Formats: sequence, structure tokens, C-alpha cells
Amino acid sequence: MTFPQERPRRLRRTEILRSLVRETDLSPGDLVYPLFVRPGRGVRQEIASMPGLYNLSVDEAVAEGQEARSLGLPAVLLFGIPPAKDAKASGAYDPHGIVQEAVAALKKQVRDLLVMADVCLCEYTDHGHCGVVQGDEILNDPTLELLAKTAVSQARAGADVVAPSDMMDGRVAAIRRALDQAGFEQVPILSYAAKYASAFYGPFREAAQSTPKFGDRRSHQMDPANAREAVREALLDIGEGADMVMVKPAVPYLDVIHRVRQAVQVPVAAYHVSGEYAMLAAAAQNGWIDRERVLLESLYSIRRAGADLIVTYCAKEAARLLRR
Ligand code: PBG
Repeated sequence: MTFPQERPRRLRRTEILRSLVRETDLSPGDLVYPLFVRPGRGVRQEIASMPGLYNLSVDEAVAEGQEARSLGLPAVLLFGIPPAKDAKASGAYDPHGIVQEAVAALKKQVRDLLVMADVCLCEYTDHGHCGVVQGDEILNDPTLELLAKTAVSQARAGADVVAPSDMMDGRVAAIRRALDQAGFEQVPILSYAAKYASAFYGPFREAAQSTPKFGDRRSHQMDPANAREAVREALLDIGEGADMVMVKPAVPYLDVIHRVRQAVQVPVAAYHVSGEYAMLAAAAQNGWIDRERVLLESLYSIRRAGADLIVTYCAKEAARLLRR
């Protein structure tokens, strides 16, 4: 059968018809809202390259968590900007570190909010690298112990999910073992399994003050030219005990999200990253694109590619749009 019998436009005529046959859904319940937490009280410091987003003191992060929850968002993902940095990333696993304090406050003061903690050392090392450094090398195995300590201290503070983003080999196994030994066998791991060495992280590094002082992250994060390798990374992480796997960035890597979705049985997350946010915000500020429509289209594309959950700086905005 073909034209004139076949007329796909029949099902596009009205919004009610379009919504009846829509293949993909998107709801606030799919979204995770990242927060950058810093020391102080009453601090809300706008991030220059991410207009509308802030570095927050713990009390302000609690207010933000409450607002997120009231908009129907299920979860926040925490990043910390510590008061001091050193070569061992002590601030990452300090029982009273900035993320540990924020986790505890959010769990105590916001009802029914899932609190996820990013596990990486780059915000806490004085050189800005994701691990222990010797000369110009980022050492893999000595880093694992620090990552495991970080995850355990976050779980002890009350984190519901730990999310390692460092891309060291073997870190999921090391974290799983350490969590289990400490009695946190119920805490799931969301691993950033396919995290690319991406220039789309630029604004994040401004926000988290985590730009490496020398070199780059290409010795551990993935080559943007590779896609098969992402499936390998995801399968390895699941083998080591990851409960969910993430692909990052999102829109420039939709094919990767799709491949990983087809290869695994666990939930797949995608991180709509800082550079994606910055491009959207800048183009919209200039009046060059319709911010709301481009945002929803981007989020739909990520869901269509196969992501179950999306980490996005636009979570609050999207939740408002989806509720209208
Ligand atoms: C920490 C980390 C980064 C991001 C998430 N976790 C930065 C990096 O790898 O340099 C990037 C998030 C974003 O750009 O929104 N390693």
C-alpha cells in the first residue's frame, strides 16, 4: 500500500492525535538535577558560563533540593567545591567534607529526595586531575583506594546512590567491594561507563574549579571517535557491579546511548552536560533559537536514543514545561 492510501499526516492533524501516538515519553520523573555545593552560608554565586545556575552553600542547596522535589524531580547529583585542595584529594573523603555535609543536610531536610553523589577526585586535587599523579602520569591502581574511600564516606553521610565519574579501570569493583565491607551493600552504583574526553565539559570545570593544571584527561576518558569501545566499557562496569551505566555527553553521543541501550539490561543514564547547557543558553540569549522548544527536543532525542534517565542542568526548567 502506498499513496494515496498511505497518508502519515492523518495522525499528525491535531495535538490530541499526536499525543495518542507519541512513541517516547518524557517526564520530570526521568530527570536528575546536578548541584554544585561550596562552603559558606546563604551563598548563591552564579556560574558565568552557565547563566541561571549557581554554586550553592549547603543551606541554599537544601532550598534548591526542596524546589526540585516540589517540581516532581526525583533526584539531585552533588558536586563539591572544597575549601582546600591537596595532592591526596583529602576533601573528597573527609567525613565532614562539603559533599558529605550537603548529603546529610539534604537527606535530613528534604522528604523523599534521592541524593546521588559524584565520585571523582578532580575537584579535590591541587593539580585538578582525577587521580593520584606521579610526574605527568595519572596512576590507576593507587587512585582506586581513594575513590573507594570517597564512595564509602558519601554512603556513610547518607548518599542514596554513588556515581563514579573518574574513568579509572577497575573502580566499580573497588567501590562495590568497599561499600559491601562497610555495610552499604544496598547502595547502588551509577557508573559513568562511557565518559568521553570532551570539550563540552568546559563550563563545568569553571563551576567546579576542576580544570587540570597541566595536560588533559585523554589518558583515561574516551576518544570521541570511538563507539564500540563504549559498549565494552559498559559491559566491563556491569561485570564489576554497576547497577546503572551512563553515557556522557548526551546529544553529540546519541548513537552511543543507542548502542549501549541495545547491549545491556540495566538502566541507562545520559548526562546532558555543561557545554550543551551553555550553547543552549547562549543561543537563546541572543534570540537565535527558541530555548524551550530546543530544550525539550534535546531531551526527547536523548530518551528516543534509549536513555532511561537524564542528568540535566535544565531539570527544573523542563519539569515546569512538562507540567504545563
Ligand atoms: C568529574 C566530572 C566532570 C563532569 C562530571 N563529573 C568533569 C570532567 O571530567 O572534567 C562534567 C559535567 C559537565 O560538563 O556538565 N570528573
